[in-house]
Amino acid sequence: MSSPLLNNPKYKDFCIRYRDNLVRYVVENSRHRITWQQYEMVKAMQKPGCSVAVSSGHGTGKSFCLAWALDWHLRAYPYSNAMITATNIVQVRSVIWKELDSVIVDVNKLYPWMTPYFVKEAQRYYALGAKDSWYIIPKTTSKGNPENMAGQHGIHYMCIVDEASGVADEIHGVLRGALTHPNNRYVMVSQPTRPVGHFADAFGKLKDMYTTLQFNSEESPIVCMKFIREKLIEYGGHHSPEYQIKVLGRLPDNLTGYLIPKSWCEKAQSTAIEHKEAWGWVLTVDVAEGVHRDSSVWTLAKVSGYGAERRIEVVEYKEYQSIDEKVFAREIYSVIQDYQSLTVAVDADGCGRTVILELEELGVTVERIHWGLPPHSDADKKRYKNQRAYASVKVREAIFEERMRIGQGKKVVEQACRIPYKIDEGGRYQILPKDQMKAKGIKSPDIFDTHCFFFLVDYVPAESMDNDQDDELIKAAMELLEQ
Ligand SMILES: Nc1ncnc2c1ncn2[C@@H]1O[C@H](COP(=O)(O)OP(=O)(O)OP(=O)(O)O)[C@@H](O)[C@H]1O
Ligand SMILES: [Mg+2]
Repeated sequence: MSSPLLNNPKYKDFCIRYRDNLVRYVVENSRHRITWQQYEMVKAMQKPGCSVAVSSGHGTGKSFCLAWALDWHLRAYPYSNAMITATNIVQVRSVIWKELDSVIVDVNKLYPWMTPYFVKEAQRYYALGAKDSWYIIPKTTSKGNPENMAGQHGIHYMCIVDEASGVADEIHGVLRGALTHPNNRYVMVSQPTRPVGHFADAFGKLKDMYTTLQFNSEESPIVCMKFIREKLIEYGGHHSPEYQIKVLGRLPDNLTGYLIPKSWCEKAQSTAIEHKEAWGWVLTVDVAEGVHRDSSVWTLAKVSGYGAERRIEVVEYKEYQSIDEKVFAREIYSVIQDYQSLTVAVDADGCGRTVILELEELGVTVERIHWGLPPHSDADKKRYKNQRAYASVKVREAIFEERMRIGQGKKVVEQACRIPYKIDEGGRYQILPKDQMKAKGIKSPDIFDTHCFFFLVDYVPAESMDNDQDDELIKAAMELLEQ
């Protein structure tokens, strides 16, 4: 069946006007004035045979451009096909498919005679009478069956890959395999969540093949300052890799792959902590795994505040090589006798269990840490793979903001500055698993781990503030009395 539209003389003029000219299409037909970044993007996409890679922070108007590009491709090229894919198909449906609705409204307003000829359904946007040969479809880049992703071969074919950084190379291979005609277009858009893979390569070893664009949200006229300020706080400042990826739209400059720079750790050993509210004693414990033969550690600190206000002042720590768990529990028991309202928290995965049971036998209440589990809040689940990643990043932030004094000695610094991390495909922080750290020659950072635990436990505020402060108050009172 052929489309009745092809016999309409107005349609012929329309196609001539907009063929290979997406810039004109958006500028003339959208209710919005496009930004300079969007101009760059649509200009790159209009070129026949283009391969475009856009690395960008949040909210710069990428989805808007993609929706316009899809509508343009469908309407300006008879019998064209386009595919829009993402790892998260919900993202395509809820964002781009929805954005398309407002594009369609804008275009139909100016070309009302065209309205009946294009039909948008949940799974397909197509030309009336040519549903199977002239269309746009959304598809998920599922890992299981890359062959399913093969596109339709044709002169006018465009493939758009959203969240392209997280898409496996194998899938990019299959998708690009469909680009059999020199006029076919391939567009990748993403936050640069991974330093490896086809998307990253487009900015590196494949840069001759791609037109590359990098959009910084801070420079976007449609991203407000309030949003930037919120993200600065949420992601922990300009220096944070997450801010660089998700706002600046570029690969983090901290490419060593270690979470905390050594100079910060050294400085954090002499940070003076001023508690803003009553603090409490907390003792955190990491128990050696028999097979890995690492050490058992307890660390004692004064802890105050919650969330971004947490302050940690490590007072002392002790490390034991190959100590029996029961003996270790009794050691801890004797240490904690000297402190009031002290909270004890023990890593409960693995060998910690014996220590916990022994302490409980001795009448001590123990908080269990299971830091392999996901963080508690939904917002944190999106940012951290597990509580280990969450707590490690919190240490980094607290050190940067001078809210944490870490333990003394070279070993603490050596461990703290060799925490390998990455941002995974979902844009979440992930700390390298212990066995993989071993494989890289990095010993289990037991002392550092106990420092992280302070961000996973509650504390009981001591009844009085610092004794020194008490002494000073008493002295001041005495002086007043003597006057
Ligand atoms: N030129 C423009 N003028 C005004 N508003 C715009 C413009 N371009 C896009 N918008 C609107 O700004 C918002 C963000 O745009 P869009 O969703 O396209 O950004 P994005 O870069 O895809 O964001 P994200 O990083 O969240 O995927 C949307 O509500 C969109 O409709
Ligand atoms: Mg988007």
